[in-house]
Amino acid sequence: PQFREDNLSEETKTLISSLPSYKDSLGNLYNYRECWYYPNTLQGVLNFERGFEPQKTDIILASYPKSGTTWLKALTIALFERLKNRSSDDLHPLQSHNPHGIVPVLEIGLYLKTSTPDLTRFSTPRVFSTHMPFHTLQLPLKDTPCKIVYVCRNVKDVLVSLWYFKCVQLQKKVDMEPLFESLCEGVGSCGPIWEHVLSYWRGCLEDPKQVLFMRYEEMKSEPCAQVKRLAEFLGCPFTEEEEEEGSVDKILELCSLRNLSGLEINKSGKNLNNLPYSAFFRKGEVGDFKNHLTPEMENKIDMIIQEKYKGSGLKF
Ligand code: A3P
Repeated sequence: PQFREDNLSEETKTLISSLPSYKDSLGNLYNYRECWYYPNTLQGVLNFERGFEPQKTDIILASYPKSGTTWLKALTIALFERLKNRSSDDLHPLQSHNPHGIVPVLEIGLYLKTSTPDLTRFSTPRVFSTHMPFHTLQLPLKDTPCKIVYVCRNVKDVLVSLWYFKCVQLQKKVDMEPLFESLCEGVGSCGPIWEHVLSYWRGCLEDPKQVLFMRYEEMKSEPCAQVKRLAEFLGCPFTEEEEEEGSVDKILELCSLRNLSGLEINKSGKNLNNLPYSAFFRKGEVGDFKNHLTPEMENKIDMIIQEKYKGSGLKF
């Protein structure tokens, strides 16, 4: 697991002894390039920085955890899969695999233990994902035309989703309070969340051809428009014929929380850390925070985010 320290090279051990650190209920976190990581994840980030060799057509799906990563992965997989000439009895990859099994996370999957993973199983375009902020991801990608899609979600819903996920990870009901506090302090894993979001927001402003900025709430409220926007950005827009045939709706239905969460692989499968895939599907609603946060908690988050986003042009 990411929060252990059993995967560190001597070099990393030396590095982390000089980094700001902090301890939460899972273990130590270290601040590297303005982002907090558990030790094994940090090793993965360093391996990625050292070894990743981008290809021009690479696509990277980026997010702060619990912002809609699984959905974005499923949609991207489905968009490219439709371009393949599949026979009707071929099983769609989303029917036999969880989206995270198809699109691995660079720093906690592929690069966790090595800076030279075997990537030959990936066909073009290769699709990866990450929770690293833009400034770190960008280092090996500089001057390449690789495309990055970022999905951003209301911070209060992210907090509630994180809390549920943590309860599954720890197999017990944990208090919301410490998670709330660390999110507000900006010290949780992958935090500060506002720096994460702003890093991609600025990246998108600087080069909208390289970075697409999506919002979970817009994907929920206008799914057709958003999936078409995604397809266009990825260079595989829907043709008129496809639109007439209802291809957009088919993809949305295939990738819906209801459909994915009902598939056997997602009901009974587990990831490499033995975490049930079902943990990635919960309610998928906008505004569930209303059922979990006190007005004081809401207010505190609102004030912080409003202040942090001020002047960025990012609407709150
Ligand atoms: P909730 O906990 O609010 O229900 P991530 O994929 O980044 O880990 O985010 C998980 C959140 O996305 C969870 O939110 C989960 O229910 C929601 N989600 C997962 N798959 C989805 C889908 N296909 N459509 C919409 N939301 C989805």
